[in-house]
Amino acid sequence: MKTISSVVSLCAVAAVLLGRPATAAETFKPGEVWPDDRGQHIQAHGGGILKLGDTYYWFGEDRAQNNQRGLRYVSCYSSTNLAHWTFRNQVVKLADPENLGRGWILERPKVFYNAATKKFVMYAHIDNGTYKVASVAVLTSDTVDGDYQYLKTFRPLGHESRDIGQFVDDDGAAYLIFEDRPFGFRIATLSKDYLTVETEVCLIPEHMEGGAVVHYNGLYYALGSALTGWNPNPNKFATAKSLAGPWSEFKDIALPEKNTYGSQSSMMVKIVGTKATTVIFLGDIWKPRTQWDSRYLWMPLEIGDGKLALPEPHAWTLDIKTGEASVKK
Ligand code: GAL
Repeated sequence: MKTISSVVSLCAVAAVLLGRPATAAETFKPGEVWPDDRGQHIQAHGGGILKLGDTYYWFGEDRAQNNQRGLRYVSCYSSTNLAHWTFRNQVVKLADPENLGRGWILERPKVFYNAATKKFVMYAHIDNGTYKVASVAVLTSDTVDGDYQYLKTFRPLGHESRDIGQFVDDDGAAYLIFEDRPFGFRIATLSKDYLTVETEVCLIPEHMEGGAVVHYNGLYYALGSALTGWNPNPNKFATAKSLAGPWSEFKDIALPEKNTYGSQSSMMVKIVGTKATTVIFLGDIWKPRTQWDSRYLWMPLEIGDGKLALPEPHAWTLDIKTGEASVKK
């Protein structure tokens, strides 16, 4: 009978013979075209990630060139390693549900799974062409990659809401982050069925879009971008012991002249592995004139002890089991 170690080394030899490194780590190439299982560039801009079991689902704006004019699309992809994504479905193909007119928008979709109702609940920024409606749309589905049905549009807690973000804490509590132009950005709890926004946890009086939060080693980190539309700007972060604050001052996540390496924040994803915990910055590199070709900047953050830094983008690897990330320099 073979020992485990000889089996392992045989596997390693086989992997080398097959031209693959003997590691479970997958490579990420920030800023490059990111093909899905069909070989098409992933259409999940301004997106969000939902984890169910060992599978990650990536939802985002589908801005493919051949989409029908007038409709707004959200696509869903799945992966078990965050690097290779399988296209699942255009889960939203929506005709202007509130008669917002030409140029209406459905942006930054985020999906929450409600274990009690077993429903998948999507929030998105819905607006007219001049961004004056400033509301959220709610859509639901019985399956993660089903056709999401439009439910309603409203202003969360009566406030303006443009860019939204999602945060699910380690205890499973779900929060919506939303930008309220006159005041700053807000973090609020969802109702039990997730179909409405219930209680404000905090107003951070900082004018920020692309709001994202992560809970890491006993501290909350919030980050976002300045309000410069599709143009990149220096994204900033703050920390707090409690989501309700008080929050520290906001500081740059990279050298300000780098403008977040041409990207804008959309989410932070925490990978808790057997050996390490990695927090990934998910950013969009927008191409306003060729939106379908907008790129993604995903990089592991340098995070801890109240500090957070987005390293210069280079190819990097992640072992989803061990949680170890390594940037190739
Ligand atoms: C950005 C925002 C995007 C989109 C864009 C439109 O600031 O983050 O989601 O709304 O403005 O100009």
